[in-house]
Amino acid sequence: METKRNFALRIRRKVLKFIYPLNSAANIAEGWERYARRYVGGEGEHLGDEWSLPELIDNVVPPDRFPSYLDEKLLSPFLGSCDVLLEIGSGGGRFTEVLLPKCHKLLASDTSRTMLKLLRKRFPHESKIEYLLLDGKGLSALADHSVDQAFSWGVFVHLQHWDIYNYLKELKRVLKPGGKAIIHHPNTFSELGWKHFLAEVPASLNRHKLPTTFSLFTAEIMKEFVQRVGLILVDCLTDVIKRDGISLILSPEN
Ligand SMILES: C[S@@+](CC[C@H](N)C(=O)[O-])C[C@H]1O[C@@H](n2cnc3c(N)ncnc32)[C@H](O)[C@@H]1O
Repeated sequence: METKRNFALRIRRKVLKFIYPLNSAANIAEGWERYARRYVGGEGEHLGDEWSLPELIDNVVPPDRFPSYLDEKLLSPFLGSCDVLLEIGSGGGRFTEVLLPKCHKLLASDTSRTMLKLLRKRFPHESKIEYLLLDGKGLSALADHSVDQAFSWGVFVHLQHWDIYNYLKELKRVLKPGGKAIIHHPNTFSELGWKHFLAEVPASLNRHKLPTTFSLFTAEIMKEFVQRVGLILVDCLTDVIKRDGISLILSPEN
């Protein structure tokens, strides 16, 4: 039986093996496209099933139970169910699976063609999903007020502040009045967020941001951005996973 520590070390080695080659990519989206192309199978059945290690985020459940844990704790209570749900950066689809029963139509979006290809493979017979290839500059394929709810996990942690701002502006445009969004983002000055920041300093000096590194971001910046684009920040949770922030956002009724 493998110990928890050995398991964590093995996963970390695997993650690092993937991460180094993608850091020379021209931008964040391209870096993740490379990650997807290099992916040949991880700990779980699908890409990303091995992410969200308790050792890194101080979560109480192991990676395979993390999406359903989050669903129970947060997604179901805040989102409930709806007609059209947008997922920004679906990746390998570990949350797509949880989101599917919550809506009639799921817009699974990503900047990586290969991620979308893997996603189709994961859900070969799922007619509810519409796949959307993003250009990293917004949600131009979506009409104004066409989305009831939005969810994004593991994406904004890697994006720079102007990209985060731009997605929030786009969410204000595409969400229907009264629409809701859950966005996971960095919280640099939490205890674990700071530890993460310090770990990334050596490889980041005098370089552009690397695709996998976290941006500097806090609940306070999120609040400012959300207000400035005309959305409402219902809450920014910093205790569900202790490293990061999870913002619960509402689109005003008028
Ligand atoms: C760490 S993965 C998270 C995937 C999934 N949400 C999960 O938690 O398993 C980050 C995902 O964001 C996508 N991505 C990168 N830049 C993006 C951008 N500007 N807009 C939308 N998605 C992006 C990547 O291709 C990748 O699939």
